[in-house]
Amino acid sequence: MPVTNFSFAEKYEYISGFNSFHESEAIKGALPVGANSPQKPPYGLYAEKLSGTAFTAPRHENQQAWLYRILPSAAHSQFVPIDDHTLSRKLKQIPNQLRWDPFDIDTSVDWVHGLKKLSGAGDPAMKTGLGIYMYAAGCSMEARTAMYSSDGEMLIVAQHGVMDVTTEFGNILVRPLEILVIPRGVKYRVDLPDGPVRGYILELFEGHFVLPELGPIGSNCLANPRDFQVPVARFDQDSEPWTIINKFNEDLFTAKQNHTPFDVVGWHGNYYPYKYDLGRFSVIGSTSFDHPDPSIYTVLTGPSARPGTAIADFVIFPPRWLVQEDTFRPPWYHRNTMSEFMGLVCGEYDAKSGSGFQAAGASLHNIMSAHGPDASTFEKASNARLEPQKVGTGSLAFMFESSLMLGVTEWGLETCQKLQPNYNDESWMELKSHFQPPK
Ligand SMILES: [Fe+2]
Repeated sequence: MPVTNFSFAEKYEYISGFNSFHESEAIKGALPVGANSPQKPPYGLYAEKLSGTAFTAPRHENQQAWLYRILPSAAHSQFVPIDDHTLSRKLKQIPNQLRWDPFDIDTSVDWVHGLKKLSGAGDPAMKTGLGIYMYAAGCSMEARTAMYSSDGEMLIVAQHGVMDVTTEFGNILVRPLEILVIPRGVKYRVDLPDGPVRGYILELFEGHFVLPELGPIGSNCLANPRDFQVPVARFDQDSEPWTIINKFNEDLFTAKQNHTPFDVVGWHGNYYPYKYDLGRFSVIGSTSFDHPDPSIYTVLTGPSARPGTAIADFVIFPPRWLVQEDTFRPPWYHRNTMSEFMGLVCGEYDAKSGSGFQAAGASLHNIMSAHGPDASTFEKASNARLEPQKVGTGSLAFMFESSLMLGVTEWGLETCQKLQPNYNDESWMELKSHFQPPK
C-alpha cells in the first residue's frame, strides 16, 4: 500500500549534524542489526550501498550510505540521451570583469529544463573542477520524474521561491537564505508549492563539501555542525511508470522504470543530502583594525589535493557589524590568484553602491582580474565617520571562490542577454587620483 499520509511536520523532519554517521527508519526495524547485507534484510527489503568515495578512501574521508529499499536502483531500462539538453561543456576563458543583470524566470519550465550552465572549469569525466549553473523554474517537475547527477555534488543557493525536494533519503523544504547540498548520485525531484523559484548552483566535480578548519578561532563559530539538517527516511511504494533523468558528463539521459525511486524505508551512513540555514552562520571579524581575508566567511569548502587551496569555497557576506578603527572598511582593491564568482540572494551588497549588482544577478572576477569598490563606494568609505556600523542588513551576497580559471558558456556570454556591457567603465574608470607628493 502507498504510504503518503504524512502531516507537514512529519514530511519535513530532520536529524542534525554535519558529516555525522546517521541512521533513520520510516518503519521501526527496517535497518538490519549488526550487519549491512544479511541474507534476508528486514521486511523483504533490498540492501543497496551508495558509495560517495572510493572504497579505500581514508577513514576520515570515507563517505557511504546503506539504503534498504523496496526495489533496487538497478531495475530500470537503458538510458537514452535527451537531444535538447541545455548544459554545455564548452567554456570561454576571458580576463574581463563580468557582471550579469538578474536572470529571468521562465515560468513555463520545470527544474530540469530551467537548469542553465553559466560557468565552470575542469571536466566531470576526469572528476576535476566545478560547474556553476542558474536554475529558474515556474512549475514542478513532471509527475513521476526524478533526477540525479553523476557529475558531482551540488550546492544549491535558493534565491527565490520555495522548493519541496523529495530525495531518496527523505524530504527537504528549501527556502531563500538556505542552501541544499545533494551529493553525487542521490536521486531527487523538485516540486514548487509556492510558485516560481530561482537560484544558483555550484557543482563540485571533485571531492565533497566540508566545513573549513577553524584554526585559532577554536571549536565554534562560522557554520556550526549541529545546524546542518538531514532528512529522515520516508518512502512511497508504487508500480507506476517513472522517468529517471541522469546528468552524465553534462549530457542529460533518460531511463524508465516501473517503481518509484523514493522507496527507501531505512538508511544509515554519512553520505546524504542536507540543508543549512545561512542565518545561523556565526560571523567573525576584526575588532581592532584592518580586514581578515574573506575566507573568514567560508560556510563550506570543496578542498583540492593541495591543503588550503579549494576547488571551490562557498563564502557568504551576511549582516554584520563593522567596528574597525582607521580602516577602509569595504573590501580592498585586489587581484586574486583565485577566481571569484559572486551572486546576491537579496538586498544590496555593501561593497557596491548603485544598482549594477542586483539580487539574482552575478559577477565574475577571474584569475588576476583587478577589482574592488566602485568609485562612489570608495569616496564614501574614505570619508565616512568610523563609528560602529551595521552592514548588510536585509542582504545576503555570496561567493563561489575557486582556485581554477573559470570559463563562461555561450549561454552566459550571449544567449541569456544579461551580460552588462559597461561594467568595468561604470565601476572603476571613474576612480580619481588622490596622490599628493610631498612638496
Ligand atoms: Fe574580490
